[in-house]
Amino acid sequence: METVLSGIRSTGNLHLGNYLGALKNYVKMQHENRCFFFIADYHSLTTHPDPTQLHPNVHGVLAEYLAAGIDPETATIYIQSDVPQVAELYLLLNMHAFVGELERTASFKEKIRKHPDNVNAGLLTYPVLMAADILLHRATKVPVGKDQEQHLEMTRRFARRFNNIYGVEYFPESMPYNFGAELVKIPGLDGSGKMGKSEGNGIYLADEDAAIRKKVMKAVTDSGPTEPDSPMTECVRNIFTILEAVSTPDTVDYFREQYATCRIRYGDLKKQLAEDIIRVVAPIRERIKDIYNDSAYLSKVVREGGEKARESASETVAEVREIMGIRPF
Ligand code: TRP
Repeated sequence: METVLSGIRSTGNLHLGNYLGALKNYVKMQHENRCFFFIADYHSLTTHPDPTQLHPNVHGVLAEYLAAGIDPETATIYIQSDVPQVAELYLLLNMHAFVGELERTASFKEKIRKHPDNVNAGLLTYPVLMAADILLHRATKVPVGKDQEQHLEMTRRFARRFNNIYGVEYFPESMPYNFGAELVKIPGLDGSGKMGKSEGNGIYLADEDAAIRKKVMKAVTDSGPTEPDSPMTECVRNIFTILEAVSTPDTVDYFREQYATCRIRYGDLKKQLAEDIIRVVAPIRERIKDIYNDSAYLSKVVREGGEKARESASETVAEVREIMGIRPF
């Protein structure tokens, strides 16, 4: 059994791409592994130090993960700042992280470029805190997107370095969790690229039905096929990719056939797509609302999740202290 750790950004709402591309897989794999899901609120302070927004953001993301099917009885779901052990491990790992390598990190260079007025030490050591998150539970598998691969690579480097310096085989090599064939990349509705928050082309799990219909009806298409079996342009292919993820095979076949024989009416295709997206999103959206407002349930979830996470974390920190020579009298 693998120990899987998944870190969740506390900024922004989940969109359909997050759900179909990742979350749906998490919901399945939580039963086969020792899973930790945590909301990285400390990390968000490196770029969003806004005390009025932090808690509402965490609240929203937590409700969305629970509504999407992460089960707190099965997996451990917790808030990063509820586990102070991560701050100690971060401090200890910082002793073996070199400023030069941190300065060369792609995400750091990008942040400097975008926010030259706020190049803080938290930003520089962001990968060390992320390594601490992962190594805190000695996670062997971490589901990450492309943009986080370098951070995971650095985690492995820090782990190896620690093991070498102290002559131990303590930290594992944390590998990317790969969903293989099940991995679906959900494109946006604007003709090119993937669905993303920054792209502003997303359908959100919290969207109302009317908003979903409106967004889908505005999806970019072309002027239609003029010859039988002509290849699809990217924007139309994207619509079919989403359709395949939310509709029945019969529906997909029907519209493919319509396209191949040049009879397709994109208006009908979009109407169908909107209804099938709603079938996926609406129940999650309603659960989000219920859970969001159930503060007794939420506080129980984070209290129990925090306890389980601290138990695992304090074991690691005690062992790391011992290895590094911090010992009791
Ligand atoms: N940096 C990740 C992101 O921006 C969030 C994160 C923080 C994370 N700590 C982690 C992800 C540990 C995986 C494991 O998406």
